[in-house]
Amino acid sequence: MRLKRVGMGLVGAGFLADKFAACYRQDPRVKLVAVSSRTEAHARSFAEKHGIKVWYTDYEEMLRRDDIDAINVCVPNFLHYPVTVSAAEHGKHVLCTKPLAVSTDQAEKMVRACRRANVKFMYGENWLYTPAAERIREIIREGGLGRILAIEAREQHSGTHSPYALKREYCGGGVLIHMAVHPIGFIMHMINKPVRRVYAELGNLLHNIEVEDYAVLLMRFEGGESGIAQSNYITKGGMQDRIEIYGSQGMAFINLTHENPIRIYSDVGYSYVVEKASMSKGWTSPVIDENYQYGFCNMVSHFVTCILEDKKLLSTGEFGRDVLRVVFAGYESNRKKIAVVP
Ligand SMILES: NC(=O)c1ccc[n+]([C@@H]2O[C@H](COP(=O)([O-])OP(=O)(O)OC[C@H]3O[C@@H](n4cnc5c(N)ncnc54)[C@H](OP(=O)(O)O)[C@@H]3O)[C@@H](O)[C@H]2O)c1
Repeated sequence: MRLKRVGMGLVGAGFLADKFAACYRQDPRVKLVAVSSRTEAHARSFAEKHGIKVWYTDYEEMLRRDDIDAINVCVPNFLHYPVTVSAAEHGKHVLCTKPLAVSTDQAEKMVRACRRANVKFMYGENWLYTPAAERIREIIREGGLGRILAIEAREQHSGTHSPYALKREYCGGGVLIHMAVHPIGFIMHMINKPVRRVYAELGNLLHNIEVEDYAVLLMRFEGGESGIAQSNYITKGGMQDRIEIYGSQGMAFINLTHENPIRIYSDVGYSYVVEKASMSKGWTSPVIDENYQYGFCNMVSHFVTCILEDKKLLSTGEFGRDVLRVVFAGYESNRKKIAVVP
């Protein structure tokens, strides 16, 4: 029997879970049933903030509920694998945030577990669901840029808010796996051909941390197209998510985080400009609706539609696994100083 409403469980109650919860709350097709977070006080205050009646400190316990149809994985990267596999074994649909896992082996096992359980497995690459990506996809499809030849894209800021992202054990690496997955995924989605070679240069330019704070990765696709993804923790002035698309008959520049319709000058500053911006005095361009502009609400709405109407996902677990293959080819390339086949 087809579901009429999706009972949702959130695993994690931090930064990302807060954004997802805000989006789900706007969707009448969703009931936010429960949240789980390791620290009880966090789980409780998150539940109170979002009007969720039940909270857990053990996600396994939450997964045993019959009124939860799907879960959102919003915990640190090393937990994506055990949470997803367990959720699939409990028959729950899964939306897993980026990166899919901390190894390609884990990613493959997650894909297999979801296939075995016949549940939807979505890779939460929010860049693909931004209004800007939706519009540029239409323009590319109608031939407005000609044949896509090259895409350069970057996500950069001055440093992560999450302590888990600074440890290889929890994160899987540094900015390459944690942030460059966004531009890599975007480029792979838009070019939509197999990646034949990967070359990467990584380093620590500023921070004394055990993982890289700087990454440049070059992809060569089957048709000769090229993609360059860059990420770092050395960029001041707030989150920079920028894309350049070069086609045989046109080009496009996309700025996901800055260049908003508002420009403000303030001597005294105000509370929020854009993610990771450290000041708001002088001239700034505040983001208007981050959850919409960054694609979070469109992404979770797509997940819900695909569950309720049994539709094909735009970004599947398989796609997330393929993005990770490119990432780990990048790590190998940097170690060996050669191009690597993913
Ligand atoms: N644009 C995007 O797609 C985007 C943006 C941001 C983050 N992310 C991804 O979202 C995930 C979470 O990031 P975040 O920024 O939300 O992190 P965060 O703010 O640090 O929150 C992490 C959450 O995970 C819980 N947690 C930590 N260790 C745990 C453990 N051992 N067992 C159970 N729960 C544990 C924390 O619980 P307590 O606090 O209760 O201890 C907290 O609720 C990461 O994979 C990150 O890559 C994606």
